Amino acid sequence: MSEAEKNPAFEELLKYLKNNRGFDFTGYKRSSLMRRVDRRMMAVDLDDYDDYRDYLEVHPGEFAYLFNTILINITSFFRDPEAWTYLVDEVIPRIVERRGEDETIRVWSVGCASGEEAYTLALLFAEAMGLDDAVTHLKIYATDVDEDALAHARQGGYSPEHVEPIPDDLRDTYFELDGGRYVIHGELRRCVVFGRHDLIQDAPISRLDLLVCRNTLIYLNAETQSRVLARFHFALNPNGYLFLGNAEMLITHASLFTPVSLEHRVFRKVPKETPRDRMVLLTQAGDERAADELGVYVRLREAAFGSATVAQIVIDRDGYLVLANEKARRLLDLDHQDLGRPFRDLEISYRPVELRSVVDRAKSERHEIAIEDVEFRRSKEEDAIYLDVAVVPLRNNGERALGVSISFRDVTRNHELESELHRSNQELETAYEELQSANEELETTNEELQSTVEELQTTNEELRSINEEMETMNEELRTANDELQSKNQELRERTDALGQTEVFLESILASLEVGIVVIDRDFDILLWNERAVDLWGLEEHEVKGRSLLSLDIGLPVGELAEPVRTFIEGDESGGELELILDAINRRGKSVRVSITNTLRLDPHGESKGVVLLMEEVEG
Ligand SMILES: C[S@@+](CC[C@H](N)C(=O)[O-])C[C@H]1O[C@@H](n2cnc3c(N)ncnc32)[C@H](O)[C@@H]1O
Repeated sequence: MSEAEKNPAFEELLKYLKNNRGFDFTGYKRSSLMRRVDRRMMAVDLDDYDDYRDYLEVHPGEFAYLFNTILINITSFFRDPEAWTYLVDEVIPRIVERRGEDETIRVWSVGCASGEEAYTLALLFAEAMGLDDAVTHLKIYATDVDEDALAHARQGGYSPEHVEPIPDDLRDTYFELDGGRYVIHGELRRCVVFGRHDLIQDAPISRLDLLVCRNTLIYLNAETQSRVLARFHFALNPNGYLFLGNAEMLITHASLFTPVSLEHRVFRKVPKETPRDRMVLLTQAGDERAADELGVYVRLREAAFGSATVAQIVIDRDGYLVLANEKARRLLDLDHQDLGRPFRDLEISYRPVELRSVVDRAKSERHEIAIEDVEFRRSKEEDAIYLDVAVVPLRNNGERALGVSISFRDVTRNHELESELHRSNQELETAYEELQSANEELETTNEELQSTVEELQTTNEELRSINEEMETMNEELRTANDELQSKNQELRERTDALGQTEVFLESILASLEVGIVVIDRDFDILLWNERAVDLWGLEEHEVKGRSLLSLDIGLPVGELAEPVRTFIEGDESGGELELILDAINRRGKSVRVSITNTLRLDPHGESKGVVLLMEEVEG
């Protein structure tokens, strides 16, 4: 029966703690864990886990009490003195000797509680190295999940009872008595770095020469212990040591650690069949110095691999993920827990691209397989990035298969540049097409312009010829005008002559004592002189154009009609017709009028009218 099935309410409580306080107790052994929780429940007078969960919701301050009860901080300087003696005699000198020039010794005290274990380590290494060297070349990381315990540890001050296990000479060298408390030497204090770290959830501190985890693993269940130990294995240098508490055995983890002293719980890392570990294994057969040199070399390679700018992971020949550099861990969201797990079980084996079959193919075909431009979106919110993935089979001198390296090169910028280039190309093509059509349009316009120019030219020529014609016409007109002007002149001269003739005639007519009336064939009056005015009392302008026969004057014009018409239509040229008529002149006096018709001839001899001469005669 699983733990959850045994007591679901308790499991719910653990889940609640995990979700609300971020502390995961699910990997702890249930028996002791339950006992601790029960104790706390008794303190607040509750006996039901569900009720206690409600209580925690209402009283947030209870969490601190609960954690303090669960996390047992019992510790002391030189706890289990024989084990420490072993460490001083057999382990610390080796670590110090093996250290390369200018290398720092790295130690991790996991579950350090109030710091006594970490300071015990510090003063022992200071003894072995010398304080000055320790100050510059010793780093002790001391971590715990309990902040209160860490706060105490950071102060580095202890009561006289607490420092009792420390041999007097060491206590006097490395502690100062301050107000009744022993305070660790300032310089040695600086070798120890305290920090909160959850050994179940957080990534381990790596490249360690010594990992001390005492009386802490015992609280964890077997499965969680295995996970933590796998991480410890990873964290240790090839020659690193693991120092456990008296109750911790590691019998089931022989594949990871081999005992150096089972009695004192000192173990050494079993090199795994990774390229790095195999090299170390080979040199372990030789002298320690060679091993150290190789260690430095391996670390150098590891550091280079770890800090490479291209994300890279390595799978061993059994299909386990054995290496992942920093870049890969960040890019692909891998953590230290994933190291040592089968590659097939990891999300990275199928996302962002299916790699399982590719890895198999690269192994069997023995050549690199590249997959380009793989789109990768780590979360919905994040923008896609693009990766060039290269799967390279690794072989030992071209012979035995060692595993496969997979690198993920971020080509997002290239991708963007390519897209930009593509876009620019398209824009360029469009611009070119537009240019071409603009060019064609220009060509057409040019042709149109040319034909317009031609038309203009023709029009110009036409205009020129019209101009010439007009000039000729103008010339003709000018000649005609000249002619006209000379004719005009002639006419004017003639008119003048005529005028003179007329004046002359008028003066003749006026001077004549005879009334002269000129009529045309219709008897319309053409001329009526002064004497006629005098005779009949009508002015020339009153009679001109009127028929003589229509005039109402003292002359019986009706008697004139017949003889004058006969005279006009007769064929006599020249000659005279004389009529004597009785009339009454304008003064009312009865007069006899002699009328003489004189035929007026035109140049062609055709009769146009007659000239009538009227004068008073004695009768
Ligand atoms: C019994 S003390 C051991 C102290 C010291 N190592 C020793 O042997 O004297 C166990 C310590 O483990 C710490 N601890 C318990 N669970 C832990 C976890 N998940 N991560 C880190 N420390 C934890 C506790 O807070 C406690 O301080």
